[in-house]
Amino acid sequence: MPERPTRIVLVGFMGSGKTSVGRVLARKLRYAFEDMDRRIEERTGRRVAEIFRDDGEEAFREMEREEARALSSLSRRVVAAGGGAFARPATRALLQEGALTVWLRCDLERILARVPADGSRPLAANRAIMPALLAEREPSYRMADVVVDASAGTPREVADRIVGLLEGRKRKRTSARR
Ligand code: S3P
Repeated sequence: MPERPTRIVLVGFMGSGKTSVGRVLARKLRYAFEDMDRRIEERTGRRVAEIFRDDGEEAFREMEREEARALSSLSRRVVAAGGGAFARPATRALLQEGALTVWLRCDLERILARVPADGSRPLAANRAIMPALLAEREPSYRMADVVVDASAGTPREVADRIVGLLEGRKRKRTSARR
């Protein structure tokens, strides 16, 4: 029977639930969970907000690209990508390598309700730019292999939708071989 993808990368806007869904999904699949933002914070010993403030966004994007490269050689992982990572072509290509990419699609209203404007996410501090930022990034998120509705349901329910998709893909590939 064909194996399931060894890496599943969750992409989508801030507040779409990549981290909370990713943790549940990893547990269900018995994969390790990786959060790109946390990995960058651990590696640098600084918070994402500090990196944005002191070094600027471009420096952070470069760190994301390095992190995507490091992750591309790991197996049995569920990865929560940062909200801007998949919008950068070089980082996107690394995240796509050998992985199943999943867009957690979430409506703006839900995003605004979930994401605090407390400065922990520098790009969410300015609420006025969020609609345009989401619209600008949607074409990139659409490049993910599959889309899952993440506007409604608990992280467990959204993770179950992804498991359902994995099972469906497996069935499809198995019957295509017959
Ligand atoms: C960002 C999203 C954040 C974090 C940083 C920039 C973005 O990640 O990487 O604040 O550009 O959308 P989450 O999507 O995990 O919040």
